[in-house]
Amino acid sequence: MRVLVTGGTGYIGSHTVLCLLEAGHQVVVLDNLVNSSQESLVRVRELTGKPVSFHHVDLLDEPAVDGVFGAYEADGGIDAVIHFAGLKAVGESVHQPLRYYHNNVTGTINLLRVMDARGVRTLVFSSSATVYGDRNPTPYIEKMDIGANNPYGRTKEQIEDILSDVGAADSRWHIALLRYFNPVGAHPSGRIGEDPMGIPNNLVPFIAQVAVGRREKLMVFGGDYDTPDGTALRDYIHVMDLSEGHVAAVDHVAKREGVFRWNLGSGIGSSVFDVLHAFERAVGHPLPYEVAARRAGDLPAFWADPSSALADLGWSTTKTLDEMCEDHWRWQKNNPAGYAPAE
Ligand code: UD1
Repeated sequence: MRVLVTGGTGYIGSHTVLCLLEAGHQVVVLDNLVNSSQESLVRVRELTGKPVSFHHVDLLDEPAVDGVFGAYEADGGIDAVIHFAGLKAVGESVHQPLRYYHNNVTGTINLLRVMDARGVRTLVFSSSATVYGDRNPTPYIEKMDIGANNPYGRTKEQIEDILSDVGAADSRWHIALLRYFNPVGAHPSGRIGEDPMGIPNNLVPFIAQVAVGRREKLMVFGGDYDTPDGTALRDYIHVMDLSEGHVAAVDHVAKREGVFRWNLGSGIGSSVFDVLHAFERAVGHPLPYEVAARRAGDLPAFWADPSSALADLGWSTTKTLDEMCEDHWRWQKNNPAGYAPAE
């Protein structure tokens, strides 16, 4: 298939582009580069030895999006879309809700309008475990009622609703809603990985910057949760496993009409200390940390029930927390400033 990947230069996008190429698909990337670098695709081309075409386009520019689809029409067209493009910082979304709703929701509506007009009706959407909100017991299962509790999460929830309505109105659509748990790690080569702008919000990128000397110490947000070691539990998933999940999902829905929801997680809850200690093993020495107050909005513990993805897609995670930290560390150590050129 020829697959268009929106947000294909970003963290999960670039790893998925690599997996799609290795599975024999052709890939076209569309990205506005607001939070990512084209260098990731340079490296994906190096790693795979395969071409990837790139279009510097914003989903808010609907005619430009249509132009990308049009550019391939004479050569068989685009067969499917994997849609990652979107803003993703929870804290920022609380302060800039209109920017988040406009960018994520309107951008997706533009994409869907173009897809419909061009007759491309296979879509894999990058959703999040955050849609389960704070109302559900863990482990999360796909049939639970969703209800996110911050603007970022609500953009994901609203897009899920829009896609469900679109699929209900026209049975020609093939739609996968993938709810990711906590993606970490990097390609085992250490050539592509996560490159957060500014101070990382997420745990593993922060630990990695402590390990490389860019931050003084990790602040552990909450040591008094009702969990085995007092720190919060999450379901960490290696970005390569997650990317393989996208390849499995696009292959599956291409052959099956309807709207499907799958959790992509391991089913295992790991604590902040479990992650810190796994990272210390990868680095080979202890890392400085301090236990601080809980972070507002954090839940004590959640993880996936990943059994639907196994049953329907034949997909499950293969990599351990130690492998996630080893691979993340190799990327961070070899690229201390991410994709920025060395000073
Ligand atoms: C966060 C987002 C979630 C998003 C996901 C993407 C919030 C509240 N949630 O999930 O919507 O889909 O990232 O990966 O931002 N921690 C520390 N110190 C740190 C950073 C984190 O102790 O410096 C702890 C957190 O309190 C949490 C765990 O590490 O218990 C994981 O945090 P994080 O990596 O930010 O992921 P989530 O909060 O689960």
